Amino acid sequence: MSKESMADIPFLPTEIMGLRLRNRFVRSATMEGMATDNGSPGPELIRLYQNLASGGAGLISTSACCPDPEWMNCLKGQLVLNDKSHLSAWKEMIRTIHDQGALVSLQLAPFVTLGGSPAGPSEYKSGVHVVSADEIGRIASTYAKTAALARQIGVDAAQVHAGHGYGLSQFLSPYFNHRDDAYGGSVENRTRIFRDIRQAIAETAGADFPIWIKMNALDGVPGGLTPDQAARFGPLLAKAGYGAIEVTGGSMSGSHNSRGPLEKSEWFEGFYLEGATKVKAVTDLPVSAVGGIRKLEMIQKILTGGTADLISLSRPLVREPGLINRWNDGDISPSHCISCDGCFKMFVKGKGLFCVQEAKKTRE
Ligand SMILES: Cc1cc2nc3c(=O)[nH]c(=O)nc-3n(C[C@H](O)[C@H](O)[C@H](O)COP(=O)(O)O)c2cc1C
Ligand code: SF4
Repeated sequence: MSKESMADIPFLPTEIMGLRLRNRFVRSATMEGMATDNGSPGPELIRLYQNLASGGAGLISTSACCPDPEWMNCLKGQLVLNDKSHLSAWKEMIRTIHDQGALVSLQLAPFVTLGGSPAGPSEYKSGVHVVSADEIGRIASTYAKTAALARQIGVDAAQVHAGHGYGLSQFLSPYFNHRDDAYGGSVENRTRIFRDIRQAIAETAGADFPIWIKMNALDGVPGGLTPDQAARFGPLLAKAGYGAIEVTGGSMSGSHNSRGPLEKSEWFEGFYLEGATKVKAVTDLPVSAVGGIRKLEMIQKILTGGTADLISLSRPLVREPGLINRWNDGDISPSHCISCDGCFKMFVKGKGLFCVQEAKKTRE
């Protein structure tokens, strides 16, 4: 392949999970906290997604979408999709994204609490409600109902969120999962809940509805998941019917969170790439790399060097929704995002999703 065409790879169309993407860029799920009181997208949020789609991303993941606010944790302003009253606003958002040439994947939010109590596979710390086998069945059917609604309104794919140390991610992890039933112990058993979810979705949304997974390959807690251990899940997830894997890392406590090492001195570009490389080496599934990717040169290396098939970006697209078009148009200077996490802090404070650095520039 010529040098020129290697440089073009990020911008060339590709087929993933039977979907034709206009390029290799994914907007990684990013909570906005900007949905209306019933969890539907309103005009402001639809505008945000329109800007992301017109900015060039091939596939846009929604933020984590709550499938059942009555039972699972749901934050103020979080997207919800669980009954027919939501459908018209959702349809408008999906249409708006499609009109700009991007496809859309709905992220199924992980649970942190169930029925108001902190919940997980095991009581890894006191006060955690241990999820029962019946509750695992209910989790699977809850996701399946939302996935079916997503398909009905024209969403192209759905993503199961098994990252960042939340409840589903904990099932994979030897640190969090101490169960001695069919859902703990062996690698087979620790992926069982994901087989259940995949099967339940196939039954409601159809086996051909593309489902992928965002998976931790580094928990960042002592005794937690490592890239080598995570790689062993790849073939099992492929066999279960997942169509692609986005490889992430971090937990709610420990040395890493979803946005990388907590210690700034340990931050480096592409901080979760080791996991992506190791997962990709053992499965034929397409892999999307996420985490601190800021330079087009690095993206070209990732895509041509066998590390990943897709590039997921979160904060760079908060700062510059038009980044991908900017690069494609020839201005290949790095993303302007300085990874200060100001946008995350604003979201946590309930102020919506925006880049504080851009806001500061505007004020000045
Ligand atoms: C404000 C904010 C909200 C986020 N919300 C989600 C989310 O809903 N689901 C998810 O899987 N990851 C979420 N993430 C993590 C990102 O998808 C991504 O994995 C992480 O920020 C690293 O990528 P980046 O360096 O390109 O930002 C969020 C990140 C930020 C900054
Ligand atoms: S607030 Fe900081 S981390 Fe967020 S987009 Fe802006 S520069 Fe990046």
